[in-house]
Amino acid sequence: MTNPNIKKLIQQNIDEMVAFRRDLHRHPELPWEEFRTTDRIAQELDKIGIAYRRTEPTGIIAEIQGGKPGKRILLRADIDALPVQELSENIDYKSTIDGKMHACGHDTHASMLLTAAKALYEIRDQLKGNVRLVFQPAEEVAQGAKGMIKQGVLDGVDSAFGMHIWSQMPVGKISCVVGSSFASADLLTVRFKGRGGHGSMPHDTVDAVMVASAFVMNVQSIVSREVSPLDPAVVTIGRMDVGTRFNVIAENAVLDGTVRCFNVAVRDKIESAIRRYANQVAAMYRATAEVEYIYGTLPVINDKESALLAQKVIVESFGEEALYFEAPTTGGEDFSYYTENIPGAFALVGSGNPDKDTQWPHHHGCFNVDEDGMALGAEFYAQYAWAYLNQN
Ligand code: NI
Repeated sequence: MTNPNIKKLIQQNIDEMVAFRRDLHRHPELPWEEFRTTDRIAQELDKIGIAYRRTEPTGIIAEIQGGKPGKRILLRADIDALPVQELSENIDYKSTIDGKMHACGHDTHASMLLTAAKALYEIRDQLKGNVRLVFQPAEEVAQGAKGMIKQGVLDGVDSAFGMHIWSQMPVGKISCVVGSSFASADLLTVRFKGRGGHGSMPHDTVDAVMVASAFVMNVQSIVSREVSPLDPAVVTIGRMDVGTRFNVIAENAVLDGTVRCFNVAVRDKIESAIRRYANQVAAMYRATAEVEYIYGTLPVINDKESALLAQKVIVESFGEEALYFEAPTTGGEDFSYYTENIPGAFALVGSGNPDKDTQWPHHHGCFNVDEDGMALGAEFYAQYAWAYLNQN
């Protein structure tokens, strides 16, 4: 099912892959600003000889034409960085831009996919079908996938495959589970309006501090009393802006939060409950409420056939000991917009290694990867595409 030539070709290009990753790491670019990154990827594709087109404003869609007719598999890598200050001092490829950093490892995704592309291009005559390579911008703001879909990235595609380097899993391990992999991630804002006044005369006011506090305390009952204990869900209010001074009753309160779950029906239930809680709590205190609920990413649900194929590829390419079953994460991933439209799977590739200090969580200023994991990721991209296209 897998192709031994792919392993050989990946092994030949490891130094180049690591060098490219370090180059991107030195020059992180925030969502929708990935112009240099896009240029660098385009240069590498030119070197290999793979045809591509750029998407607006950043990003690249490339295509490897197989020598035989067949299906079309999409391989996706995201390429954006984060507004995080890099804290590691002992690396010579540290971010050169203050306050920006590849703190989620998307630099490794782009370089692993390029290395996989190089190997697949070498064996293109034997491929049954086409490989579409997607270098996607703006994952961190959950807009890049949507933008690329509008620009036709999914046209003619039969299946999608993506991966994330994962510091919370040991290097050498790969996980691709059937079903839920990442949660939906929504954003909510609640605005309460009361009536301000003097702190010594509360009876003449409607206190927005009271309303906001009651809402924050009560809203947790949605998960504990309205959602099944067998359906994981999170409601977090992360920010509250209320009041101006110790002896002034606040008139307004603004609260921001997020909702995570693995099932659209549960998400809809939580949304309507939040609206009810906000309005009823406000009414109880004679205030009014306004709820803005913004849908973010959908849950990433790995299609069974794709995930089982991925597991077979892992075992065949890297041995039984590499196969890992990571629990679903309540993080969000805009790969969900691909799997909303076509079947596919999303894998996690371990990069955690305390000996190399790469166990830090994603989005942390000390985040880094054990680059040994990149060889597995690059080969996995290529072997999966090969297995998918040539399985029949
Ligand atoms: Ni990420």
